Amino acid sequence: MIKKVGVLGAGQMGSGIAQVLAQRETEVYLYDIAEAQLSKAHAGIAKNLERQVQKGQLDAASVSQVMGMIRTTRSLNDLAGCDLAIEAVTEKEALKLEIFKKLDETLKPEAILASNTSSIPITRIAAVTGRPDRVIGMHFMNPVPVMKLVEVIRGLATSEETFQAISQLVTRLDKEMAVSADYPGFIVNRILIPMINEAAFALFEGIATAEDIDKAMKLGTNQPMGPLTLADFIGLDTCLAIMEVLYQGFKDPKYRPCPLLAKMVEAGYLGKKSGRGFYNYA
Ligand SMILES: NC(=O)c1ccc[n+]([C@@H]2O[C@H](COP(=O)([O-])OP(=O)(O)OC[C@H]3O[C@@H](n4cnc5c(N)ncnc54)[C@H](O)[C@@H]3O)[C@@H](O)[C@H]2O)c1
Repeated sequence: MIKKVGVLGAGQMGSGIAQVLAQRETEVYLYDIAEAQLSKAHAGIAKNLERQVQKGQLDAASVSQVMGMIRTTRSLNDLAGCDLAIEAVTEKEALKLEIFKKLDETLKPEAILASNTSSIPITRIAAVTGRPDRVIGMHFMNPVPVMKLVEVIRGLATSEETFQAISQLVTRLDKEMAVSADYPGFIVNRILIPMINEAAFALFEGIATAEDIDKAMKLGTNQPMGPLTLADFIGLDTCLAIMEVLYQGFKDPKYRPCPLLAKMVEAGYLGKKSGRGFYNYA
């Protein structure tokens, strides 16, 4: 039974993961190098819980109880007694490999080490540890408290026992699991990002306006928003980076990033976060 979990990285994803764990009576050690990120995450989680109270989804007395389950720390040694570590630091391979080496040295031998990576192979991460059978991918969706899905990625060496322990945890968190083998993009990004890339090609080739591409996909295929609007939300730089991972990973021209997408990223048109992407947010 997983009772104590270390969450590494207190950004968007790490703070959401810490929150859902704490709300399911799991003791959490939230680790980051930046003190400011830890305080921001702590305040953000408290605010989310307050919002749940206002909506009648949580009773007020539970807020302090949930907050009491979360300890923030800048020392990896505080994670030594954890049954599981979920890594959600910045998406940089060298950084993740370094962190997994340290986790392998710090956590007890039976502990499971999971990564929330969107694009780095779990098998490669597992190979730097002395426990590749106990390494697995847990790819949460953003925002974590709202989104139902966790993609669970089995590396080449991930054991059945590790997989079972993680699937039980996903159920306990009231999430749904989709299981993927360890290949670029896993399931969601393998399908979603090429669709966005194709929408960018449709615009690039003058097939239709951005508005009509989005309208066609939204009303014609019942998606909550069109692919170009969604790209602006995700960030065009992130979409391009994932296309590059698919292109490099499969060495298949069908994943060629759309030149327009690359050009927009060069221009600093990154979507909603920069004020301009396929649409103008100024
Ligand atoms: N944002 C998304 O929509 C999304 C969705 C699924 C998965 N992911 C993945 O989740 C991970 C985190 O993404 P995010 O959006 O939360 O990023 P973020 O930038 O919001 O947070 C990253 C955190 O990592 C911390 N960090 C950096 N170096 C560190 C170190 N050496 N030790 C400890 N902490 C360190 C930073 O201080 C920051 O708080 C990435 O692997 C990303 O690919 C992101």
